[in-house]
Amino acid sequence: MKKISIKGTGCYLPERIVPNSYFEKIVDTSDQWIISRTGIQERRMVLPGQALSDIALPACEKALEMAGLSACDLDLIVVGTSTPDMPTPSTGCFLQHRLGAKNAVAFDISAACPGFIYGLTIAQKFMQDGSHRHALVVGGEIISPRIDYQDRATCVLFGDGAGAVVLGHSNGDGEGEILSTEIHSDGSLWGLLNVPGGGSLHPPSKEMVEAGLHYIKMQGNEVFKHAVRFMSDAVRKVMEGCGITSRQVDWFIPHQANLRIMEAVAKQVEIPIEKVIITVHKYGNTSVATIPTALDEAFRSGQIQKGDLILTASFGAGFTWGAALFRM
Ligand code: UT7
Repeated sequence: MKKISIKGTGCYLPERIVPNSYFEKIVDTSDQWIISRTGIQERRMVLPGQALSDIALPACEKALEMAGLSACDLDLIVVGTSTPDMPTPSTGCFLQHRLGAKNAVAFDISAACPGFIYGLTIAQKFMQDGSHRHALVVGGEIISPRIDYQDRATCVLFGDGAGAVVLGHSNGDGEGEILSTEIHSDGSLWGLLNVPGGGSLHPPSKEMVEAGLHYIKMQGNEVFKHAVRFMSDAVRKVMEGCGITSRQVDWFIPHQANLRIMEAVAKQVEIPIEKVIITVHKYGNTSVATIPTALDEAFRSGQIQKGDLILTASFGAGFTWGAALFRM
């Protein structure tokens, strides 16, 4: 089986910065509450009219440029998102067209926040037998229109963003490698985190929108507890599977939903907080985009170096969760 490595990374965060003070004016909250309970200071939001492929496109272009590849070299485009440009066609197809990736098969996966780890897993399986040589794995979300700006328990948490990686076959010799991924689902817990409206159960209608069913619904406290438990479990499994201990990990990139969740998981799996990459303070929870954007920023800034052992873990609606270990 071929070994797969990350050849390039890219991300794009919208320019519009929304500070916590914005929410102080519209709901009963405070900058101090948001920072102390979540770690979030500000987040990015798109301007009206921007679609997911608009913000994912520059992330993909940057990842291709770093990989030294052109869009025609891609055989596969996998996009993790819960907020595609349209219900159909897939945002993968829009990106294939806009990049000019004529030779790539393209599709979306709906796995909420861990969609990037699901995407890595799927692309790795396509590529291991050698039939697909280069894949683009994208995690992007435009979540701001799905927020109920009257619900203080959710509106302060989220932001928009997109990240991407280009995968290729590893040449060995100092090249990185995806060592292992773990993905899991438990649909029985769907009620704790969902967007109920807009699908076939509650199709788009005036009544559906008036009832606010197109907004994110979350029982934050319950989600918090499950997130800590399931992410810690996935991290332990992926490390055990590779015979790696937490001491060997150079950097941990957990899903950036809440600083307290990241601290709790890091503590449970015995990774010092100094080794945790944190972006939640400036971008909030960008769902499936949190890991690829954090990876790209840390790699480009030199914080993560070639050869470093990276651990990631995520958790989200479904419930879905997972972890991945790779060497850059
Ligand atoms: O990406 C998918 C995964 N998502 C997550 O992992 C999110 C997980 N959940 C969380 O991050 C946290 O549960 C929240 C940040 C959402 C909430 O923090 P919490 O410490 O769990 O607060 P809570 O829900 O237990 O609420 C405590 C109090 C409540 O007031 P009472 O009932 O004690 O009077 C809330 O109404 O905090 C209140 N509250 C707020 N107060 C000020 C909730 N949101 C706010 C707010 N400002 N924005």
